[in-house]
Amino acid sequence: MDYFRTLRPLFTISQHWIRPRYCSNVAKSSVTSRERKFKSHISSGPNFQDFLKGVSVPKTPAADGQDCDTHSYLSEELHMGNSRKVYFETYGCQMNVSDTEIAWSILQRKGYQRTADLSEADVVLLVTCSIRDKAEQTIWNRLQQLTAMKKRRLKTRTPMKIGILGCMAERLKVEILEREKLVDVLAGPDAYRDLPRLLTVAEGGQQASNVLLSLEETYADVMPVQHAPQGHSAFVSIMRGCDNMCSYCIVPFTRGRERSRPVSSILEEVRMLSDQGVKEVTLLGQNVNSYRDTSEEQFCGSDLTQLSRGFKTVYRTKQGGLRFSDLLDRVSCIDPDMRIRFTSPHPKDFPDEVLHLIAERRNICQQIHLPAQSGSSKILKAMRRGYTREAYLDLVRNIKTIIPEVSLSSDFISGFCGETEDDHQQTLSLIREVGYNVGFLFAYSMRKKTHAFHRLQDDVPAEVKQRRLEECISVFREEAAKVNAALVGSTELVLVEGESKRSAKDLCGRTDGNVKVIFPKEDVAVQPEDSDMAPVNAGDYVLVKISSANSQSLRGRAISHSSLGDRAKHYETVQTAV
Ligand code: 5AD
Ligand code: SF4
Repeated sequence: MDYFRTLRPLFTISQHWIRPRYCSNVAKSSVTSRERKFKSHISSGPNFQDFLKGVSVPKTPAADGQDCDTHSYLSEELHMGNSRKVYFETYGCQMNVSDTEIAWSILQRKGYQRTADLSEADVVLLVTCSIRDKAEQTIWNRLQQLTAMKKRRLKTRTPMKIGILGCMAERLKVEILEREKLVDVLAGPDAYRDLPRLLTVAEGGQQASNVLLSLEETYADVMPVQHAPQGHSAFVSIMRGCDNMCSYCIVPFTRGRERSRPVSSILEEVRMLSDQGVKEVTLLGQNVNSYRDTSEEQFCGSDLTQLSRGFKTVYRTKQGGLRFSDLLDRVSCIDPDMRIRFTSPHPKDFPDEVLHLIAERRNICQQIHLPAQSGSSKILKAMRRGYTREAYLDLVRNIKTIIPEVSLSSDFISGFCGETEDDHQQTLSLIREVGYNVGFLFAYSMRKKTHAFHRLQDDVPAEVKQRRLEECISVFREEAAKVNAALVGSTELVLVEGESKRSAKDLCGRTDGNVKVIFPKEDVAVQPEDSDMAPVNAGDYVLVKISSANSQSLRGRAISHSSLGDRAKHYETVQTAV
């Protein structure tokens, strides 16, 4: 283990600073014979890449789908988990859930075991979020509890290692290692392949970190291991990073540049999930509409329609390759009984092709998450969102024309730099005008490194932000209650998730529009108008007659089992009835 000690400084370096130091003073003319002798001596030993093994991410997956690290200065056997138990805690967005599955897949291959019991864990990994200060505070607090637990465990025979993964590892790097001396491992979002090595270093008693961001890493060859409790819904990451640089957002700094995972690898994962009986897949990316798989030859045109409708981007629109609509088309053809959702598209590049596809394909849910962030054009400009209030509302009208049954959800930020009472009123009026049924609303939290941090004043007092946020929430609830109330009396196709959290006598599921539905657990007809009855289980599709609604959910009674094929029939019935 002393061996690792000698390597210690190299585990936390980034290529950015080592290169100049390494090359600087070696002017050709001044190389002495002593230096030549020294160079020839070290050339037969391990080279620089050996020390960086795993720091630069392997680009080409091996044919068997395993990591293709060819430099093996630290022998592979040393990276093995030897059945050590890993406990994951995931914070933040769905992307982090997906990252947890990737990290777990990598560790599982190396012989680690997963545990749901913290007390028996050899390794505790926190998959972290940096998007708002509150998210980070939660993790700092959790770290204190874990390090106290680690101290207690030091006296027992099962020592515990703590690792910080994801955005917070990327954003705070050195600060975490210095402030929390008992943290053993830091791995940024592009460094999960390096986890086995980092954990091996940590076993030797050292802190180990890799926070290098990559331009290529998509973990395309790492099949995530799904760990959903019910196992009927899954998230599939289709791209990583973000190039949008909205002025408030830390994501481009923690997750790096945008890159798309190849179509073939996404289709393979969705096929695998379908074989496992998964009934609903959500395609995940920070900005799914700018998905491009340029590894495919076909040229499918560009999305110029949006640029001419009042949307603009600070980045060059990507050309060529397969676009999001092509991907959605292919994914939805895999299993006609599998629901497909996606999140999040950016309003600035929402092409009509995607809307038409949603309208036509019965297994693509008629639900769109369309983050608005503000209803004021002035604030949208300061946020660098690339659209105005009018352009956003035009897009909403276009969506509603092409998909009349659409359910819309959104994200809003209250109290962004320079937001006046009038701007806030415009946000409230936009929420009323659109009529969303789900919303994610936040008070602005300034993040270092962002454009807003450098150039704008965080000038809305905390209590004003809070009051505006509460007003947004209450208008949202009113509107969602109206949207949901309009469904009373209709029959909805519901994918059953399992027992309701509130009562074991009820089941809970979701409509095509992603609204939660609660209904009594009872046997129902095996198909519409059949007299044979069967119990309802998680993963089943059932038709539910809706009897009441509030802003959060619907209540009703299941009529019969069903399938996605019935969605079309169901809509025909509803329209005839109207
Ligand atoms: N403060 C508050 N909310 C933020 N979001 C992103 N950055 C911030 C921030 N600095 C919100 C946006 C985004 C969602 C994922 O988080 O609404 O869409
Ligand atoms: Fe952040 Fe904007 Fe990218 Fe979303 S689109 S992740 S808000 S920079």
